[in-house]
Amino acid sequence: MQNHRWLRTPDGTAPRISFGADYNPDQWPREVWDDDVRLMKKAGVDVVSVAIFSWAKLQPNADTWDFAWLDELIDLMHDNGIGVDLATATASPPPWLTMAHPEVLPVTAEGNTLSQGARQHWRPTSPVFRRHALTLVEKLAERYGSHPGIVAWHVNNELGCHNAYDYSDDAARAFRAWLAARYDTIEGLNHAWGTAFWSQAYGSFEEVLPPRLAASFPNPTQQLDFLRFSSDALTDHLVAEREILTRITPDIPVTTNFMIVGDTRHADYAAMAREIDFVSNDHYVTQDRDELAFSAAITSGVARHRPWFLMEHSTSAVNWQPVNRPKRSGELVRDSLTHVAHGADAVCYFQWRQSEAGAEKYHSAMVPHGGEDTRLFRDVVGLGGILQGLGDVVGSDREPAEVAILFDWHSWWGSELDSHPTELLRYRREALEWWTALVDAGVRVDVVPTDADLAGYRMVVAPVLYSVPAALRDRLEAYATGGGHLVTTYFSGIVDENDHVWLGGYPGAFRELLGVRVEEFRPLYEGEGVALSNGASGSVWSEPVDVVADDVEILASYEHDELGAAVTRRPVGSGSAAYVSTRLGVVGLARLVPELLAGAGVAPELPEPLRGSVELASRRGAAGRFDFYINRTDEPVSLDGVAGAFLHGSAELAARGVAVVRA
Ligand code: GLA
Ligand code: GLA
Repeated sequence: MQNHRWLRTPDGTAPRISFGADYNPDQWPREVWDDDVRLMKKAGVDVVSVAIFSWAKLQPNADTWDFAWLDELIDLMHDNGIGVDLATATASPPPWLTMAHPEVLPVTAEGNTLSQGARQHWRPTSPVFRRHALTLVEKLAERYGSHPGIVAWHVNNELGCHNAYDYSDDAARAFRAWLAARYDTIEGLNHAWGTAFWSQAYGSFEEVLPPRLAASFPNPTQQLDFLRFSSDALTDHLVAEREILTRITPDIPVTTNFMIVGDTRHADYAAMAREIDFVSNDHYVTQDRDELAFSAAITSGVARHRPWFLMEHSTSAVNWQPVNRPKRSGELVRDSLTHVAHGADAVCYFQWRQSEAGAEKYHSAMVPHGGEDTRLFRDVVGLGGILQGLGDVVGSDREPAEVAILFDWHSWWGSELDSHPTELLRYRREALEWWTALVDAGVRVDVVPTDADLAGYRMVVAPVLYSVPAALRDRLEAYATGGGHLVTTYFSGIVDENDHVWLGGYPGAFRELLGVRVEEFRPLYEGEGVALSNGASGSVWSEPVDVVADDVEILASYEHDELGAAVTRRPVGSGSAAYVSTRLGVVGLARLVPELLAGAGVAPELPEPLRGSVELASRRGAAGRFDFYINRTDEPVSLDGVAGAFLHGSAELAARGVAVVRA
């Protein structure tokens, strides 16, 4: 992301938050397109993502190409001032390809081959798929590279959605090559994977397989490496498409849409973000609304706090949850502006016009089945107007926070592997609970990958930072001794990059820094709690924590005979290192977080009466600082006393409302 490049727009275009959707005109008769243009203008749409699932239409068989419809569509958009984020159309291979080449179809761990008939049924490592996909990319780049209406390239779609884990023979070959590059020798692999255990020693890379369905727990390092490899295989596909695009059309920026949302975890987006010109994300509300803000903050973190593109979210209901409810009044605007608050400079949806057929016909869109005379379309038009009023925000970066949460895909993958002390631990939930507790305390929080520069943060929270290579341990130690305030939790600093336990007592990598030592984990049963002296209650995990340094302060103890200290803090160098040995949850963290913040010298930015109900997020750019006050509740809140000019909203913040204030 060193070379952040945003949408290509004609010179003299006033900066604006782009507004639009995935647009699938190839699923509609030609006469509908004119109505689309009319309604897009009414809503203020200025960008659409086109051709995402159009491969079969563009290449109806191996030897035939049909670009006429796309030529006409791109011209139509351009003539009406609507930019095209043109997809490379490689997400869903057409039936002629998979019938002729069934060897492109992914294979599950159980050995089942996934069929055509849905979408994204391709192996990331298939040379046959790659060849056909890149031919398509090249054709598109050559045909449209000089069209002024193309504002960006949209590589594939949600790389790894449905096909991230492929256990086929192609995957086996690529996995071996990946392992040979990582370990150099088979001895290196044997050591890293600990294959002395259970007679797993390999004589050569040729003997190694993906972790296919086995008789018992597959080797954990093999599993972890397969997760890393699978993420890299997707990135490799991204890079292969990007290289063609940038060779033929060096002036058009390239993006791909991430899935930083909920439990979706198949790609290390911190790594993938380095391969594109700007980050895009797709987000769907699956849990409470803090999950949305947290995901947006992760997205900002991997985008290195430059503006990013909200490529998809929903205007109202989705169609893929067990029960799909429409959004309530206010949520359409609040969800969108929350993403903007965390750095989105584009607000787009899946999709423009709700489908009349196919698997997503019950998924909401900007133009619903009911047409333009609907509450939803009127709300969409209203949102378009709101976004047009926020042009000054465009291009501004996230205003750095004083507190950061470290978010690490490798620790996520590692901490939730099988054969562990408990199946109840959830990496992302722990991180999200810290987010909520910190926001409740009235501070702004960045969420950053482990290679981020931490120097500017007064406090860094590393929840369940399970996988800690020596270099990361050293960086965090240097951060704390150099004046930072590090907070880490149970099941952190446990293993190195090979999933080998740091020996000598837990939490091995951080034991000396924290001045504590744990001999045995004591996970808790589902529903079991353990009381703490500060009135909080722990769940999921507990530990008998031995304090082994004189200067360790005990912030809370377990009220349990076999357990002592629960939360500790130790001054180290000019900073401190704190340890939380149980899951406190949002309610328990509320008792601890203000103390930790005070110790780190972090003062809440949000006035006291707003804490708990309102989230503050800020951006700063050439036009100044913009504060977003986001009402997380279903009650109106008064922003009396907030200084600045209201660009959107007012001091009477509606239920589920957002106010944007130029500070
Ligand atoms: C069995 C096996 C051992 C070990 C234990 C673990 O007894 O024989 O190798 O796996 O289970 O409980
Ligand atoms: C994903 C896909 C879209 C659509 C939406 C529905 O984000 O990229 O094509 O399926 O989900 O929520």
